[in-house]
Amino acid sequence: MRLLVIGGTSFVGRTIVGEALGRGHEVTTFNRGLTGKDVDGVEALRGDRSTGEGLRQLDGLVFDAVIDPGGVVPAHVLRTARALAGSAPFYAFVSTTAVYRTWNTASVDESTATWPGVADEEGDPADFEKLPFHKRGCELAVEQTYGPDACLIARAGSIVGPHDNLGQLPWWLTRTAEGGRVLAPGDPGRGLQLIDVRDLSAFVLDQVEAQAGGIHNAVPDGPNTTMGRLVGNCVQATGSNATPVWMDEGFLFSQGVQPWAELPLWIPDVPDTAGLRAVSGTSAKAAGLRTRPFGESVREVWEWLRSGGEVRTAPGTPPFGLSGDKEQQVLAAWDSREK
Ligand SMILES: NC(=O)c1ccc[n+]([C@@H]2O[C@H](COP(=O)([O-])OP(=O)(O)OC[C@H]3O[C@@H](n4cnc5c(N)ncnc54)[C@H](OP(=O)(O)O)[C@@H]3O)[C@@H](O)[C@H]2O)c1
Repeated sequence: MRLLVIGGTSFVGRTIVGEALGRGHEVTTFNRGLTGKDVDGVEALRGDRSTGEGLRQLDGLVFDAVIDPGGVVPAHVLRTARALAGSAPFYAFVSTTAVYRTWNTASVDESTATWPGVADEEGDPADFEKLPFHKRGCELAVEQTYGPDACLIARAGSIVGPHDNLGQLPWWLTRTAEGGRVLAPGDPGRGLQLIDVRDLSAFVLDQVEAQAGGIHNAVPDGPNTTMGRLVGNCVQATGSNATPVWMDEGFLFSQGVQPWAELPLWIPDVPDTAGLRAVSGTSAKAAGLRTRPFGESVREVWEWLRSGGEVRTAPGTPPFGLSGDKEQQVLAAWDSREK
């Protein structure tokens, strides 16, 4: 197939490009040349999707499908979809499960109510507060332009894998590799639902190849690891002498440790987060999503980091990770509490 990937140089887009080339497709990428390098083997076009002028590069080109993994501003996605509707019959968009109103508090499936979105809304790509509304607006922009049968909306949950551009799993790997006593949060049995970027990419391409329209939560169908296994996998993958020190959540809150932001992927047992591991992946599974064992993702992210891989976040992305000083203070407070 002749595929156009908008972006394609950072994480999800980059992985989709690699998988598509591996499957023998011809891939054109379209980006500004600011983020990462083009994957070898693509035809790389430079342009800015945020303006009609920028998209002119695509005039006269014909594709079998467009894949848009990184769109975050509805008006930009609407412009892109309109520019390509006559020259590419299928549009695949990578969205997020944060479009559901209750995404963090309750279990959700594709019929759950979403936040309102506006298909032609302009906005700042770095406005993370508005991301759920903006992503829903992007979905509407694609649906309204292509119609439901000619577009795929893949709503991803938290994504892990090589070329990670947020840095949550890389933070745990880097921290455990340093060794020593590692602050480990809450219940080690707490389930997590994390999709490997390569499984997400294969799923998107399967749907694109079949030109199968639809909306799917691109997540494992149920928790695919636990916090305890994640930390254990990190210790094993890095071969370090790290010893996890599991601390109860009440204690961590009393020490001012922030879930998710300071201890990435830590989902405490509070009502605000009850939905974070309860996204239905049934429809994606029925459509062909296959997920690899989580330990494999951990090993291969570590291999990527060891071979020089670096987490390069997009502008405005909030930083992750507890400082070494704060971790030592909390460990000391935990020890004195036990005496
Ligand atoms: N990470 C997670 O856990 C998670 C969870 C749920 C959903 N998601 C979704 O997954 C997607 C991840 O995308 P990604 O960053 O990995 O995709 P990507 O395609 O690998 O990278 C983003 C691309 O967009 C290009 N770009 C940015 N602004 C542009 C513009 N104005 N014109 C043309 N190109 C532009 C960038 O290149 P230039 O800067 O060079 O133009 C870059 O190539 C996001 O939509 C995110 O919402 C992520």
